[in-house]
Amino acid sequence: MTTTATRPAEPRPRAAIAAKTLRTDRWWIEPLLTVVGLTAWLAYGVTHVFMQKWYFAQGPGYHYLTPFYSPCVSNGCAPEAAEFGRFLPDVWWIPYAALSLPFLLLFRLTCYYYRKAYYRSFWASPPACAVPDGHKRYTGETRFPLLFQNAHRYAFYAAVLISLVNTWDAIVAFDGTKGFGFGLGNLVLLANVVLLWAYTVSCHSCRHIIGGRLKHFSEHPVRYRFWTFVSTLNTRHMQLAWITLGTLALTDIYILAISAGWFPDLRFFN
Ligand code: FES
Repeated sequence: MTTTATRPAEPRPRAAIAAKTLRTDRWWIEPLLTVVGLTAWLAYGVTHVFMQKWYFAQGPGYHYLTPFYSPCVSNGCAPEAAEFGRFLPDVWWIPYAALSLPFLLLFRLTCYYYRKAYYRSFWASPPACAVPDGHKRYTGETRFPLLFQNAHRYAFYAAVLISLVNTWDAIVAFDGTKGFGFGLGNLVLLANVVLLWAYTVSCHSCRHIIGGRLKHFSEHPVRYRFWTFVSTLNTRHMQLAWITLGTLALTDIYILAISAGWFPDLRFFN
């Protein structure tokens, strides 16, 4: 009995379609909103960071420092706001929180979600699924400078330290010139720090640090529990990325308003 070997079929050439994309939905809305959202947030953030005022408010029962100025380590910081010392020169081009801001920027810039978002929106590479790339060549993240996206894990470690500092800020915010107090600003700071932790812990690198390289989860029940928790949060990473941009800006605006005297803090106690 003879058998006939079947040869794999020749790949068929791609259909010659003149249209740039066959998508008929409004695929461009998402990249457009991303550009508008990120640009607006950055413009606001950079403006306030370099204003070097209206970042701290203190009263009988409160001690509010905005996360945009934390930790406040410049010689220009109000002494009461400088929980970790003042050692950077007070010049206009060095933000008061110059110790943390570059790492926070690196953390967000190299975040897996933001990479997707800004590659699509600012770089059109590609702007959406089934829409051609805006560039002729595609080299991915294998070359300089995008090779440095691999530093994300190290930015994550820095972000954990900065989240600890933010947590400290939210705790000392209850302590004013006349002891313990509780107001709307405390709720704002607490909500912000909880969401910042949720975003930080939902990071893909965090998930890998906790559960990666394990051969048998059954031999690591504690890590498995953490990994399951982080994996659940990880499915919401994109939402948390945007929500925390919102809470950061709102927290900053609230403390700016109190500090500038636009309105008083709503006090529940002291
Ligand atoms: S993947 Fe987004 S913060 Fe790590």
